[in-house]
Amino acid sequence: MLLTKSKLLAPSLLLAVVAGSLAEAVLAGDAAAARAQAQALCQNCHGENGIAVLPGAANLSGQQKEYLRTQLRAYRSGSRRDEQMNVVAKTLTDADIENLAEWYSSIKITVETPK
Ligand code: HEC
Repeated sequence: MLLTKSKLLAPSLLLAVVAGSLAEAVLAGDAAAARAQAQALCQNCHGENGIAVLPGAANLSGQQKEYLRTQLRAYRSGSRRDEQMNVVAKTLTDADIENLAEWYSSIKITVETPK
């Protein structure tokens, strides 16, 4: 699935993207399923390894699992507002959120502070 950034930013097209991707996503409780779901639903903006490719999206790899879970639930409920994330998060079950939080928090990153 190849999309340009400008297409991704259009909410109506985003809805179509999410709906199409959901059908492909495997909603099972294991790492392989979480990876497949991340590839289908998240990587166009958050990158293949959780390093964002869309300006304005966040890096997710190496983030605390608890934090990821809390933010995804907040986007789903609408208590945290973002046009794109609210649309994506509405499609996620509690199990999806758990798996995705586990997936991105388990991606190892290295950090180097400026000298
Ligand atoms: C269409 C682009 C797009 C897609 C697809 C997308 N995101 Fe995002 N995501 C964003 C943007 C933009 C932000 C920053 C929103 C904000 O400012 O609150 C964000 C923020 C987040 C945050 C909050 C990060 C933080 O540091 O607070 C999480 C967690 C997140 N996304 C997870 C996901 C997951 C998991 C998926 C797949 C199920 C996903 N996103 C799909 C664009 C996207």
